[in-house]
Amino acid sequence: MPSRKAERGNTNRTETKPPTPDQPIVAALSERFDLADHRRYLARDLEGVILDLGAGRGAMVPYLRTAVQREPTLHLHAIEPDPNRRRQAKRTASAHDLDMHLRSGRTESLPYADDTFDVVIASAVFCTVQDPPRALKEVHRVVKQDGEFRFLEHVRSDGLRGYVQDAMTPLWKRVDNGCHLNRRTDDWIAAGPFALDEIETLSIGVSPFRPFVRGTATPVSHTETNSRIDRREYVSS
Ligand SMILES: C[S@@+](CC[C@H](N)C(=O)[O-])C[C@H]1O[C@@H](n2cnc3c(N)ncnc32)[C@H](O)[C@@H]1O
Repeated sequence: MPSRKAERGNTNRTETKPPTPDQPIVAALSERFDLADHRRYLARDLEGVILDLGAGRGAMVPYLRTAVQREPTLHLHAIEPDPNRRRQAKRTASAHDLDMHLRSGRTESLPYADDTFDVVIASAVFCTVQDPPRALKEVHRVVKQDGEFRFLEHVRSDGLRGYVQDAMTPLWKRVDNGCHLNRRTDDWIAAGPFALDEIETLSIGVSPFRPFVRGTATPVSHTETNSRIDRREYVSS
């Protein structure tokens, strides 16, 4: 896999500044975890057929509702493997009067035909998927060749915090539904079947959930994909 630095050098990676220091502590903390702007980023200017991966309890629903108000022809799909969360997501969608086709499923084996989606969205999902390279390959399969993959994920930190995240992850994933603190999701996306169009490191989140990255990526051709995927190596921690 190319080095983290090298990958970052090839993309429009920018850094978002932290909150201003004169904010009260509570406001600053809540701003550090406020994903609203970034969820709006994921849902901006959507057109066509959309898939929300790992919908959870429906955190993206209000933003997708706004997207439908702007573009009423949107077709919304979502998968969520956990039945309780899926039920809650259904309730959230219904409370927002949002027509969303929510199914059981995992990103590693998506229940959709090739080239189905114009945009696939992942928010805080790749920390949890069981097999990230396989999941990315599946996203690549179902997204149209001129489609887009949009993501908002917490990833492994550089420096000392990264080593702390490595050490904490084996226990953490047991208490937090399989969440890995140390996934290099941004590197996986760049090294796999996608070309990163933009990526931004966000100064939000509280340790050990730092940093977050958000960005967009477009599928690379299937021929190129196969050689890139073969070179990747995934070791579960
Ligand atoms: C941290 S939650 C994020 C939920 C939501 N996307 C959000 O932005 O708040 C991660 C979700 O991914 C789901 N999940 C776990 N493994 C998955 C997989 N292999 N494919 C898709 N979703 C998965 C979990 O059940 C959980 O609802």
